[in-house]
Amino acid sequence: MPTSPDVLVPDSISADSLPADNRDVAGLQSPKRPGLIKTLVVVATIACILLVLWTIGGARSDPYSRQTLALQGSAERGSQLFLLNCAGCHGIAAQGLVGPDLHGVNKRKSQRQLIQQVVSGRTPPMPRFQPEPQAMADLLSFLNSLV
Ligand code: HEC
Repeated sequence: MPTSPDVLVPDSISADSLPADNRDVAGLQSPKRPGLIKTLVVVATIACILLVLWTIGGARSDPYSRQTLALQGSAERGSQLFLLNCAGCHGIAAQGLVGPDLHGVNKRKSQRQLIQQVVSGRTPPMPRFQPEPQAMADLLSFLNSLV
């Protein structure tokens, strides 16, 4: 049965049959767009999943924290570092001043959170410190000794 002209679908008109300049104007590319949008959605979804995995993985395997936690800290050296760097805000006996009392702080925060608290600078006015992993392990040991 011959196909009548009015049931022609746009696909059956070849884009090549038009001069290059007219193809976009004629909208002949549009049947391809739903595919393009689907592809973009899939790519965006994959990107989001990768970003989330990367963030979670990064928090877990942050090399600085891992290195610090693998070291044996000295609470005594940590206490000297504390007096020099932290006592101005947290008090000579860590009893709290501008910054909070730090006794029992390791019950409120995990070891990783304590490290982040010191190195991140995310809670102003507490500055961002950049101790060597050994110094951080010493500080951590001191913080853990504040029961
Ligand atoms: C300029 C003042 C200042 C200095 C210096 C400072 N801190 Fe802080 N610190 C704060 C303040 C303010 C907070 C509360 C931040 C918040 O949670 O908003 C805080 C919070 C903390 C906490 C979390 C307490 C909790 O109850 O969760 C820890 C742990 C801590 N500081 C450790 C240290 C250590 C270790 C040093 C030294 C290396 C130090 N701080 C130096 C001001 C300071």
